[in-house]
Amino acid sequence: MFIINCKNYEEISGDKVVKLAKIIERISKKYKIKIALAPPHHLLTKITDLSIPVLAQHVDNVSVGSTTGFIIPELLKMSKVAGSLINHSEHRIPSNDIKQLVSRLQKLKMMSVVCVKNIAEAQKYAKLNPNYIAIEPPELIGSGKAVSKEKPELITKAVAVVKNANNSTRLLCGAGIVSGEDVEKAIQLGAKGILVASGIIKSKNWEKIIVEFSKAMI
Ligand code: G3P
Repeated sequence: MFIINCKNYEEISGDKVVKLAKIIERISKKYKIKIALAPPHHLLTKITDLSIPVLAQHVDNVSVGSTTGFIIPELLKMSKVAGSLINHSEHRIPSNDIKQLVSRLQKLKMMSVVCVKNIAEAQKYAKLNPNYIAIEPPELIGSGKAVSKEKPELITKAVAVVKNANNSTRLLCGAGIVSGEDVEKAIQLGAKGILVASGIIKSKNWEKIIVEFSKAMI
């Protein structure tokens, strides 16, 4: 499994995200790898008819009905969005909201990916049984220096605490991942996949880099 977070990079603005999503759909079929794409919210429904999981980058813990300017799990579900990142390092939310959002997504049978910045948070949130915990050291995000090479012990420790939660949560890692070699290292250390942004989105050749990442996962 890998998740590509588009963030708000200009490279995926407007219809460009559709081009990226179609490349992902083709490669994920060919290599039999699950690749999810998380575009900015206003672009979500441009790609929900393709056969790849589409994730929101964030969800708000507000109710269905008279709430304005928020994005909520129940309505995302009705627009065929598969799930959401929660608590991304660039969009942190209070612990109580994380807890309630994981539970709302679970009830809707949607994918929950709780992002954490350290082992203590990995341990705390793995107990909620989200589908994935994604550990990302903030200082390596967008750096081109891969977490799997710079902080291998962070991944092995996170794998252990997630395993100790004794549920079905799996560990992803991210930050600075830019090559197939970085991906391979993450998998060797026990991660079940990766969360990546700039290494793919800012690449001049999406097809080539996504194939490189995919091959590294098998
Ligand atoms: O959500 C993925 C992310 O925060 C890692 O970013 O650019 O280092 O792959 P990047």
